[in-house]
Order: sequence, then C-alpha cells, then structure tokens
Amino acid sequence: MKKSILITGGAGFIGSHVVRRFVSRYPDYLIVNADKLTYAGNLENITDIESGKNYRFEKIDIVNKQSVLDLFSKYSLDGVIHLAAESHVDRSITGPDEFVFTNIVGTLNLLNAALNRWKENFEGKLFYHISTDEVYGSLGSDGLFTEDTAYDPRSPYSASKASSDHLVRAYHHTFGLPAVISNCSNNYGPNQFPEKLIPLAINNIKNNKPVPVYGKGENIRDWLYVEDHASAIDLIFHKGKIGDTYNIGGNNEWKNIDLIKLLCSIMDKKLGRPAGSSEKLITYVKDRPGHDLRYAIDSSKLQNSMGWSPIPEFSTGLEKTVDWYLANTKWLERVLSGDYGKYYDLMYAGR
Ligand code: NAD
Ligand code: TYD
Repeated sequence: MKKSILITGGAGFIGSHVVRRFVSRYPDYLIVNADKLTYAGNLENITDIESGKNYRFEKIDIVNKQSVLDLFSKYSLDGVIHLAAESHVDRSITGPDEFVFTNIVGTLNLLNAALNRWKENFEGKLFYHISTDEVYGSLGSDGLFTEDTAYDPRSPYSASKASSDHLVRAYHHTFGLPAVISNCSNNYGPNQFPEKLIPLAINNIKNNKPVPVYGKGENIRDWLYVEDHASAIDLIFHKGKIGDTYNIGGNNEWKNIDLIKLLCSIMDKKLGRPAGSSEKLITYVKDRPGHDLRYAIDSSKLQNSMGWSPIPEFSTGLEKTVDWYLANTKWLERVLSGDYGKYYDLMYAGR
C-alpha cells in the first residue's frame, strides 16, 4: 500500500461518505476507519465498501488514550483525517460533558499519538482536522466567514470544536506537526442521523408528525451536499498547504422556514399528496437557547486554489436526499429504534 490513512468517525454521516470515497478511489491506500459507534455511528452506512481489501475497521473510543496509542502502533499511519466528534448542538446544550471528552480530549489523544509516532520524520505525514463554521460564531444580516474571522464559539458544541482547532494549530506551531484544518458549513444528504433539521423534517413529514421550527424560523444556514464536502476533503488532504485553514461552504444560504417550505413541496410531490398539505405540519416551537442567527461561508480560497466547487443545485440535492430517505425506510427504522424515542421526547417535550 502506498499510504495508510486513519479516518476517525467513519461510521457517522460525513465520515461514511469520506471513507467510501477514499476506499473506492484509492485502492493503493489502506483506509483504517476508527469509530466508537455511538448512537450516531452506524456500520450499515458503509456496507458497500466493508469487504474492500484496502479497508479495516477498528472499534475504539478516542477518549481512551491507550486505545489511540495502540492504534498508532498497530498501523504505520501516514495520515489522519479526523472527523469523530459529538456533533449535535442541541445535545451539547443538554449534556456538554461528552462534547468536551470526545471533541477536545479525543483530539488531544490523536495529536499526541501522531506526534509521538511521527516526530523523528514528518516527511509525507499529515494530520487533517475536520471542523465546522460554527467556531466563528454568528453573523448579522450580511458578511461571510473567512479563514481570518476571529473565533467566537457560542454553544458547547462549537466551543469544543474551537478548542480542538486551537490544539491542532498549537501542535503545528509548537511541535511542527504537519496539520491542516477545514471549517465547513451545514451538511445534508443520505445517512444523516434524523436529529438534524433536514432528516428530522423528512421523517416527520413522511409520518404526518409536526415539523418543529425553532423560534420564528428566521435563522440562516449555508447548506452543502455531503458528497461535495467529501470531495473538498479529498482535495485538501492531497493538495492543502500544511499549516493552512480552508473554509468549505455551499454558497447556499436559506432561512430555516424557507428551507422547510421547499422540503414540504418536494415531499408533497414524492408522496403524491395534494400541494400544500405537508406545510400544514409546520409547528413553531420554543427557540434553542443561544441560537446562532446566521452562518455563511466564503470558500473562495478553496475554490481559487484547488478549483473546487459544490455540484448539485439545492433543490436537486434535497430531492436526492428525500429519495434516499424514502428508499431506506429500514435504515431509518433501525437508527430510530434504541434510545432515539427517549431523546425526541426529552428534546421536544418542553417546546
Ligand atoms: P456524526 O455525529 O454523524 O458522526 C460522528 C461519528 O463519530 C460517529 O460515527 C460516532 O460514532 C463517532 N464518534 C463519536 N464519539 C467518538 C469517540 N469518542 N471515539 C470514536 N468515535 C466517536 O457527525 P457528522 O455530522 O458526520 O460530523 C463529522 C465531523 O464533521 C465532526 O467533526 C463535525 O464537527 C464536523 N462537521 C459536521 C458538519 C455537519 O453539518 N454535520 C458540518 C461541519 C463540520
Ligand atoms: P441543525 O441541523 O441542528 O444544525 P446546526 O444547529 O448545527 O446548524 O439545525 C439547523 C437549523 O435548524 C438551526 O438553525 C436549528 C434549526 N432547527 C429547527 O428549527 N428545528 C429542529 O427540530 C432542529 C433539529 C433544528
């Protein structure tokens, strides 16, 4: 094998698309997927590539320092693409501790293990940390986040991700660890756990359940199709400048309420319901505490330096996503079994 690459969180939403892309596009790379398989991790997301000769799975908790060191001893790794994280803002509000453990301590453990193995010779090595635009805080009605925007995280989730970004940069500056970071906007697409807005709304519309819209639905997010994020990660892993940060975004801002209305109209067509029937399910609920108003990314650095651009139109990407959820009802049923019912009741009861 030409290279061995550790991908953390490869059973999760974005990680599964990244693992699939690397296993299928790079047969001469060994891809090691390390995942704890939390509620958000599901090996069913990657059954199509699990028998690949260049693929290995390791069930580990990155918070466990020894497990991480053992992983680096077992494989002679050249690169790390670090996606494993607790990723849902609402969960970070009801239980921040896990976010600090996984997102901060877990990243620290990976940094220490990589530094320990690579410090004699950094040639050909790379620690690539996947982060979020939420570290930049919240925008007013205009302006975009650039790579130079000062950090201003405002939720326990974004604070833990910001902290991990700072650690990665500190290891690069202090110890010379070859590292690169990307900060991406909101992703959508197949395999996203239905606690996030788009799959939650698809599932509720399908089941004729209320679609909860926080506050007045005026918060704005910049949506990117998950495979476009995976293609950006591929480019940055291979061509990114060590020590640099790249913003990744869809140039696709939507108010939540407008997005939900678009989704309702797509669902009406797909489910053969009369136009306007799904919109009746929209229910305004109590706002998220500290709800960031607007995220929007300037990804011109990535676009200009590597020729990357997002592919599907939002309505096309949304249709593909709806089609996937409607075709994969068994996947939905399985991820929604277990503790999800309890989570849903707890999160939405008081709203
Ligand atoms: P996800 O919640 O769907 O998946 C996270 C994965 O990490 C799961 O497979 C889970 O089992 C694994 N994991 C969690 N804790 C772990 C631990 N202690 N040890 C090992 N594995 C563990 O998340 P996602 O939406 O795919 O996000 C992936 C990464 O991308 C995260 O770092 C997130 O911050 C970042 N990101 C996400 C978005 C988005 O819109 N979803 C946008 C920008 C950046
Ligand atoms: P989410 O998918 O949780 O992503 P993030 O908070 O990381 O941006 O939420 C996207 C937007 O949708 C955010 O403004 C919160 C809002 N939202 C709702 O209005 N209702 C919901 O049930 C959920 C989960 C989110």
